[in-house]
Amino acid sequence: MEIIKVKNLYKTYKQGSDKIIAVNNTNLKIKQGEFIAIVGPSGSGKSTLLHILAGLDMPDSGEVYINKTNIVNLKGDDLTLFRRKHIGFIFQFYNLLPFLTVKENILLPAFFTNKNYSSYNKLINSLNLKDKENYLPNDLSGGQQQRCAIGRALITNPLVLFADEPTGNLDSHNAKKIINLFKYYNKLGQTIIFVTHDNYLAKKAKRIITVKDGKIVKDIKNVKTNF
Ligand SMILES: Nc1ncnc2c1ncn2[C@@H]1O[C@H](COP(=O)(O)OP(=O)(O)O)[C@@H](O)[C@H]1O
Ligand SMILES: [Mg+2]
Repeated sequence: MEIIKVKNLYKTYKQGSDKIIAVNNTNLKIKQGEFIAIVGPSGSGKSTLLHILAGLDMPDSGEVYINKTNIVNLKGDDLTLFRRKHIGFIFQFYNLLPFLTVKENILLPAFFTNKNYSSYNKLINSLNLKDKENYLPNDLSGGQQQRCAIGRALITNPLVLFADEPTGNLDSHNAKKIINLFKYYNKLGQTIIFVTHDNYLAKKAKRIITVKDGKIVKDIKNVKTNF
């Protein structure tokens, strides 16, 4: 089943007197259960595309259907609620709340959405953070902080998990661990879309989309995932 459909997406930025086309007439369909890497040179529009798909940024024109809802038409609280309920997002620099423990950071979105917390124990164990649940983010390594951010993104059982360069700040060992966790959650049915600079990590995805100058220039099924 298709859960994301993007139609004629277009986004520009003004930089002084220049107009930058960050997303240039993009069309895309994504099915439930897909595991996608988005790659491309710096400045090619990967983050802009991902942010628009996740409702964190608005296009100039075009449509973004998540399930049957065109999120481009959602405003204010409606968009916030939709995002909280259906979308998980992971940033390069974790964006954890420094005064909350690992457990509190992970449970925070569930608290807002009134969903039950029953998945917490399974989640914290799968993230290998059970012994760290009462630590503050600053007392964790980068890899542990990112695993905590994954927990926070997954606690609400989102339709889609987005991640923008989730391993960009990690050494290769921890980077691999993060992508292996993605693989694990994808096997459980989680739809995942991540942006990466790292071709080795991209090859772990089942589909690789290459973006250049705001356009999708390649979209391949990766039959030989390197696991
Ligand atoms: N907030 C912004 N203001 C102005 N230009 C921006 C902004 N965000 C991104 N851009 C420009 O849009 C283009 C695409 O950026 P981005 O989506 O961040 O690319 P990537 O993630 O592939 O590095 C780049 O030329 C970038 O400079
Ligand atoms: Mg980027």
